Amino acid sequence: MTGYDVLAGVYEWLISDAKLPPAEFAASFDDVLDLLPSNAHVLDCSCGTGQLAVGLAGRGMQVVATDASEAMVRRTAELSEEFGASVRAVRASWEELPDHFQDNTFDMVFCVGNSLHHAAGATGRGAALESMSRLLRPGGRLVLTSRTWELVRARGSRLEISDRLVRRNGRDAVVVYRWEIAPHWEEEHHIEIAIAQVDATGLVLVRSELLSCWPYRYEELEVELHRVGLQTELSTFDLEAENYMVVASKV
Ligand SMILES: C[S@@+](CC[C@H](N)C(=O)[O-])C[C@H]1O[C@@H](n2cnc3c(N)ncnc32)[C@H](O)[C@@H]1O
Repeated sequence: MTGYDVLAGVYEWLISDAKLPPAEFAASFDDVLDLLPSNAHVLDCSCGTGQLAVGLAGRGMQVVATDASEAMVRRTAELSEEFGASVRAVRASWEELPDHFQDNTFDMVFCVGNSLHHAAGATGRGAALESMSRLLRPGGRLVLTSRTWELVRARGSRLEISDRLVRRNGRDAVVVYRWEIAPHWEEEHHIEIAIAQVDATGLVLVRSELLSCWPYRYEELEVELHRVGLQTELSTFDLEAENYMVVASKV
């Protein structure tokens, strides 16, 4: 059971209002999706609860959604059913992807929403990126979004508490992030996420999980992408912005 199996049941409280509807989540990638034919083969390899995968299927794409967490994959399958979308949902960690899919299969692979930092250090990240690259057809693209870890580390260990109640499924919750920043970049860091919901009777129910992560500098990521045969085509990296997107194509 991964940390995300615990969070899967309350994951919607962690998704922004703007990205909750599948079509909206997919629309946030309009610029890169415009590069694809409408029936393209795409993989979301850290699909979470499936909003992006279902949004892509809604555009007519042939979508596979994978995740290391069984509970996340189950939620993706449920969301697909709810939207009448055709998404193949498979439990597979990044390292296991080549056991499930042939090389050169996909036109685009998505690894979005702050997922890659869960790969264990430079070695784990390299193995994950290698798998993603293998599955892309030549000329295919990896679309990766990331926190700007340079900013996160500069702020140090801290507690972040949502400044408003987040309402999902008729229930309000406070979301708390506890950041445990290790002294050195290459060490294991932790993010503890707690979702405190107030139920109909006024009781507070807390679901929380301590997640491991290994941050990386943007420069390192660029080198690692290059090492697995991916060339950066577009990058929104900005040291002052919270998040960035990299699009890298398979040479
Ligand atoms: C922060 S969530 C992002 C989910 C989704 N992409 C989104 O934007 O809402 C990170 C996801 O990465 C998955 N994950 C963590 N480690 C993984 C691994 N080694 N292989 C595949 N998925 C992994 C988790 O299970 C979780 O669903």
